Amino acid sequence: MTATREPSVHGSDALRLMGADIEVPLVSGERRRYVNLDYAASAPALQRVRDAVGDLLDWYSSVHRGAGFKSRASTAAYEGARESIRRFVNARPDDAVIITRNTTDSINLLAGTLPEGTHVVAFAGEHHANLLPWQRCGVRYIAVPETPAEALERLEATLRELPACPDPHLVAVTGASNVTGDIWPIAEMGRIAHDNGARLLVDAAQLAPHAPIDMQRDGIDFLAFSGHKLYAPYGAGALIGERDWLSAGDPFLRGGGAVKVVTIDETVWADLPDRQEAGSPNVVGAVALGVACDTLAEAGMDAIAAEEADLVAYARERLGEVDGFEHYRVWPSDHPRVGLLTFNLGAMPYDLLAAVLSAEHGIGIRHGCFCAHPLMMRLLRVDDAEARRLIDEARAGSHERLPGAARMSLGLGSTRAEVDALADALRAIAADGPQWTYAVNPATDQYEPDPDPRPLPSLPMRLVEHPHAHGESA
Ligand SMILES: Cc1ncc(COP(=O)(O)O)c(C=O)c1O
Repeated sequence: MTATREPSVHGSDALRLMGADIEVPLVSGERRRYVNLDYAASAPALQRVRDAVGDLLDWYSSVHRGAGFKSRASTAAYEGARESIRRFVNARPDDAVIITRNTTDSINLLAGTLPEGTHVVAFAGEHHANLLPWQRCGVRYIAVPETPAEALERLEATLRELPACPDPHLVAVTGASNVTGDIWPIAEMGRIAHDNGARLLVDAAQLAPHAPIDMQRDGIDFLAFSGHKLYAPYGAGALIGERDWLSAGDPFLRGGGAVKVVTIDETVWADLPDRQEAGSPNVVGAVALGVACDTLAEAGMDAIAAEEADLVAYARERLGEVDGFEHYRVWPSDHPRVGLLTFNLGAMPYDLLAAVLSAEHGIGIRHGCFCAHPLMMRLLRVDDAEARRLIDEARAGSHERLPGAARMSLGLGSTRAEVDALADALRAIAADGPQWTYAVNPATDQYEPDPDPRPLPSLPMRLVEHPHAHGESA
């Protein structure tokens, strides 16, 4: 077995997370400390972020246009967040840092402001957030490459095939896959893009929380990421990048704050970043994101990445020992990846597996297609005829469950003990099957404990149970 150490940077006080010791009920009536292996979907808040938000709220007020002293303080905090984000990814001093809702919002914003006639090149294995916005533009999708070298070759070949015209070109690629965890060769892609007259957008939703990013060194022209995956779940994300494209046309959203002057016939739009931040900004979210960036930078993203690489290698080894564990990957197993593994366990339905892990073991993972249907179809060997059938069924209004898998994902505070807990649970499930009764809920087409005696926690807010969406997850 690989020699591994228990994470130390991860366990430091500065990186303490909210809710780390929460106990959850099991269907048996016992309570158990929650094992959170679902960071890739959304990560818990850093305590420091929560504390900073608490302090800010005393000073919270409108930003930018208020003359009141609290407005000055809030505006300084909002603008400070922009600076923290810029430093975290080593953006160029003149790059625009636009506060958005999340990665999806950031990429849609860029797609909505591309210069007329831009040719976009993207890979078919992307998260839907970096796949679907381009369908409105002229886009070429490159089939999922088998190796990083093939990704680079195909990118270069595709860029060379683009019509020789003065129209702008954009390469849109993920920093790290939310399905395989593979870290993409961003610096090489930046070089190829630039050599061929294209710009590079990196979807860093999965990369930013887990590995250092250097926009200047790696030639990243645009970068998008989400606060809720970066330990700051307060509803803000960021789009960072070159100003010319982002300020050339009309703004993506039109409204207050994005203008210099308006008459009934004419509007003069504001300069960046205000031009792309119409409406009242999410000050709390931006500040939370800025504090998360500063906190992670202070702890050292290299150290965080090294500990996670160690832990995911340990997880691959431990989980690989379980009978029936099938790990889905595309690139060679020694290729660097962020801390996540996508898998199935024998013939067990993936949603049943997730339900059993939660109900009987207190372990939270993700299951479904991870908003990356084309990549999942490739990994699960769904052929074209079956994909066609699924499309036809969906169009006809059927709620048939899509083929899918389970995904465990790690982050700050994750430990070998948690990986061991998952391995032990999977081993028990593989050997003895579920120890409770489960039924498919017709409203969601997903397995759930039946009955489910687990009470929701007592919280000072209204709680309405919501059936999770059909086979869909981040
Ligand atoms: C690689 C990747 N890109 C984009 C997104 C979209 O992020 P958000 O839902 O925060 O907009 C996700 C979310 O899971 C992701 O994993």
